[in-house]
Amino acid sequence: MQTVLVTGGAGYIGSHACKALAHAGYLPVSYDSLEHGHAEAVRWGPLEQGNIADRARLDEVITRHRPVAVMHFAAYAYVGESVSDPGKYYRNNVAGSLTLLEALRDHGIAACIFSSTCATYGVPQRLPLTEDHPQQPINPYGASKLMVERMLGDFDAAHGLRSISLRYFNAAGADPEGETGESHDPETHLIPLVLDAAAGKRPNIAVYGSDYDTPDGTCIRDYIHVSDLADAHVLAMRALLDGAKTTAYNLGNGAGFSVREVIDCARRVTGRDIAVAEGARRPGDPAVLVGDAHRIRTELGWSPKHAGLETIIETAWRWHQRSHRAPAVRSHSV
Ligand SMILES: NC(=O)c1ccc[n+]([C@@H]2O[C@H](COP(=O)([O-])OP(=O)(O)OC[C@H]3O[C@@H](n4cnc5c(N)ncnc54)[C@H](O)[C@@H]3O)[C@@H](O)[C@H]2O)c1
Repeated sequence: MQTVLVTGGAGYIGSHACKALAHAGYLPVSYDSLEHGHAEAVRWGPLEQGNIADRARLDEVITRHRPVAVMHFAAYAYVGESVSDPGKYYRNNVAGSLTLLEALRDHGIAACIFSSTCATYGVPQRLPLTEDHPQQPINPYGASKLMVERMLGDFDAAHGLRSISLRYFNAAGADPEGETGESHDPETHLIPLVLDAAAGKRPNIAVYGSDYDTPDGTCIRDYIHVSDLADAHVLAMRALLDGAKTTAYNLGNGAGFSVREVIDCARRVTGRDIAVAEGARRPGDPAVLVGDAHRIRTELGWSPKHAGLETIIETAWRWHQRSHRAPAVRSHSV
């Protein structure tokens, strides 16, 4: 069985990718510092605790498991924190990734799938966002991800390390079989926060701005089910192993939903009342962020199976209820 190294494999998206890899016949080896991840989320292969900045530990793990490819999820991902403490983000996301890439180069691993983000685009100049949209990030988090995309391009040119950067829009939902799900601490993502309000864990859900130029005045975002994201990683990895060239793909639904639509859908799914607290706009929040994922559909044959908002929220709600019953699986980031 071929092995795949999954940095950040104990995190939200990484754990879903491990499940998808196992189902596709690979052995996922999770490499995670557990700073924001959960040992309990590592269920489809071994957990090797370690930091991507620790070259000696990386060498040991790569030598032991001899992966054919790497999926690189490990990063910090709080936009606000990246603005107040940029050094933390450049050190972990950029310098840490550089240590990882040098290890891959030296061990002759020639395929890397990288978790990039729509935050590398900055303020949209046109919508939906396509991969050739200018990349002008407006916060250190987005900048740190763009720097890694650039490093990956340079490592291919110089060393033949081929990579696919996947620029996610908003990852959401949970494994439909309830085996893993989202649990960031602190949580900043809309859907789990709305579900916290539905469950009475918070008094209400804050809506930042209801005077945007959108049909209901609230921001529109593109939500992609985390299991669809995970499937895209396996497709991208197989393409690289078959010789695909270095590139980047958007991963979104193509259809945006407003904050109000998300809240209304959560009311229907949970059958609970959800109080809303309307607040002012937040600086740096564009009215609409929607991605065009046409290229990955046509070039890799990716097709999302859980595109509906209802399915996304239903799977998240099932996980939410389950994880709040089991305090051992408490947790983390983005
Ligand atoms: N969640 C989203 O909507 C979203 C959107 C765009 C991009 N991304 C990117 O996807 C990736 C995964 O996001 P997530 O939501 O699963 O986050 P997460 O915090 O749940 O997972 C990240 C994991 O990486 C680990 N980690 C962090 N720094 C590390 C280091 N130096 N060494 C080893 N392990 C380390 C953490 O312990 C955690 O388990 C991140 O790179 C993030 O930037 C996420």
